[in-house]
Amino acid sequence: MTATEPGAAATASVTAGLAFCELHVHIEGTLEPATIIALARSKGIELPYADEAAFARAYRFDDLQSFLGLYYDNMQVLQNEDDFFELGAAYLRRAHAGGVMHAEMFVDPQAHSKRGVFERVVLAGLHRAIAIVGEETGMTASIIVCVVRDEPVGDAMRMLDNVLESGFTVVGIGLDSAEVGYPPSLFSGVFERARAAGLHTVAHAGEEGPAEYVREALDLLGAERIDHGNRALDDRALVARLARDQVPLTMCPLSNVRLKGIPDIRSFPLRPALDAGLLVTINSDDPAYFGGYLDDNLRAVIATFELTRPEVEALAANSVTASFTGPGAH
Ligand code: ADE
Ligand code: ZN
Repeated sequence: MTATEPGAAATASVTAGLAFCELHVHIEGTLEPATIIALARSKGIELPYADEAAFARAYRFDDLQSFLGLYYDNMQVLQNEDDFFELGAAYLRRAHAGGVMHAEMFVDPQAHSKRGVFERVVLAGLHRAIAIVGEETGMTASIIVCVVRDEPVGDAMRMLDNVLESGFTVVGIGLDSAEVGYPPSLFSGVFERARAAGLHTVAHAGEEGPAEYVREALDLLGAERIDHGNRALDDRALVARLARDQVPLTMCPLSNVRLKGIPDIRSFPLRPALDAGLLVTINSDDPAYFGGYLDDNLRAVIATFELTRPEVEALAANSVTASFTGPGAH
């Protein structure tokens, strides 16, 4: 990190001397309003919002679904390999400035292929970003392709086939988008095929859906990490299992507040999760939409829960333990 990188001065106190891995960040969720406006202008795309202030006013969400509508609409400005390169590079530089040494980035290929922007184009741009920012900073990163769970199962299987045939390496498969009504069980065949191809497996579960979806993600998808997992805390037997097996939870405090999963940051269940012995990691989810990057999320929980330096060190260590490809990965 250099003093001139954005966020460097502000983040030094929370992440100084610590190596964090970011394990739950949707690369399309790092698309900042200024970038949307610039890309739209260069491509002649008309937007419903005139300027950054208008975007900010629109970024008031009632739940996951109300966010997803805007999130998918905004992606229309991502049309070629260079757009994905710029998106990935901007995120990686910003994350590195905030203390991230390794990132495992989610991407939703189905949201792009349905617009004619195919898997190999998306992956080529992101791989170039990983290589170039890796050279600049020394950080590492990998890609997890997510199944859009409110699209048909056949589309997910085609996405996986296209990714595997593209020749571009991805480290894992995930499951995201609208949760309630789309249980993990729908995608057991897709995940089985992904596991057979050597991919790691993760799944969003228990963000808005019930604890039962977390069980399904573990039992039917073989999920090695649970993204969010908040609702698992409703179920004592499940908590005991997650603690015994040290299944990582990739939790996202500012996202939970902005999507109204919790009424305020004080309600973020960090202490209950840590007290239960869960392997908790802190992440940003969709930083351009939810008010901050990994360091902003850390700053929020450190201030709210008055975390000690050893507790912050434990969060950093958890993120390394839970990573698939970072230093000390399992
Ligand atoms: N896609 C992008 N952000 C998401 C979230 N928080 N939950 C589910 N799917 C998502
Ligand atoms: Zn997410």
